[in-house]
Amino acid sequence: MPSSGSAPLMGRPVSISGLGAYVPEKVVTNDDLAAVLDTSDQWIKERTGIAERRMVDQGECSSDLGIVAGREALVDARIDPQCIELVITATISPDRIMPATASRVALECGCRNAGAYDLSAGCSGFIYALAMAAGAVAGGLHEHVLVVGAEALSRITDQQDRATAVLFGDGAGAVVVSPSDGVGGRILGFDLGNDGSGEELLTVPAGGSRLPASCSTVEKRQHFIKMNGKGVFKFATRVVAESAGRVLERCGFDVDDVDLFVLHQANLRIIDSAAVKLGIPGRKVYTNVQRYGNTSCASIPLCLRDARAEGRLKPGDRVLLVGFGAGLTWGACLMEWGGPRAVSNGRE
Ligand code: COA
Repeated sequence: MPSSGSAPLMGRPVSISGLGAYVPEKVVTNDDLAAVLDTSDQWIKERTGIAERRMVDQGECSSDLGIVAGREALVDARIDPQCIELVITATISPDRIMPATASRVALECGCRNAGAYDLSAGCSGFIYALAMAAGAVAGGLHEHVLVVGAEALSRITDQQDRATAVLFGDGAGAVVVSPSDGVGGRILGFDLGNDGSGEELLTVPAGGSRLPASCSTVEKRQHFIKMNGKGVFKFATRVVAESAGRVLERCGFDVDDVDLFVLHQANLRIIDSAAVKLGIPGRKVYTNVQRYGNTSCASIPLCLRDARAEGRLKPGDRVLLVGFGAGLTWGACLMEWGGPRAVSNGRE
């Protein structure tokens, strides 16, 4: 198994200065799915923990969700959108192959002075994008970066395949990454890893340059997510604990030093198993997979938003984020959560 690139964040201190999230209004319950698929509320809850998920409406796409989350993060950061110098959208369900979803997100969020690109790293995409943003701000390349995780996964999920249709949901989350203003928030380090030999375990086979769209790919339903559930489960339970352990070690902390663990919300059993491996008490693990299912690149910022709203994420808390997914990829980030931010209108 390939190892990871793991390092404390060097350069000037960097923190998350704003947070936003959005989910579409339409709720799809397990009973709704059981009405059209050979499945049951009991099976889904026992195997995944999921009770319901959100689904985009006709005509709604990933950027529509990301724009709402991005705007909320900018307001939360009290930053003029024109001071954003880069917009990164992490997604596995982009609006189109070209141009980048981030281009529309930047436009509609009013980030007129920003570069924009999409980042594809499976469900680890948000952690990867956060790492790219943090590195760019720490090194002085950019002052403020908007990172958006946005997914309309129902568009690439085969609603006739019970093995995947019950798992995925739609949503978006966003953060603004800025120089730390000294109120306590600081991103401490990252661990990013990849094992390309797991490519076939989780993939959308067609629509790219290897297998372009054709009548045959449509007939074979190859534009939808194909997954080897057991293989992904085994990989995920191992890698979450390993990646979390590495970033803690490299930053000089122990599991007991962490106040809140936010793991990618793929499945409650994966989260529980990783928590046991790491020796984390349940009260320190935040979950909302029950309400949203697996929202891929949106799941971690959605957790941060909900955890803060519920009083589970407070200024000064040390937080460990871990993502994993297609690639196979994984990523962990250790940070200290900041307090309310003073008004900022540009380079400090
Ligand atoms: N409803 C009812 N039965 C289902 C079902 C569903 N939605 N999906 C599968 N089954 C059936 C299977 O056909 C199988 O039946 P069989 O025993 O008659 O063959 C049985 O349930 C057990 O299937 P299995 O695949 O062994 O279940 P599992 O315990 O591995 O759970 C997952 C399946 C998908 C929930 C689990 O493997 C998983 O969570 N994997 C990780 C997926 C993931 O997180 N992906 C995204 C990563 S970013």
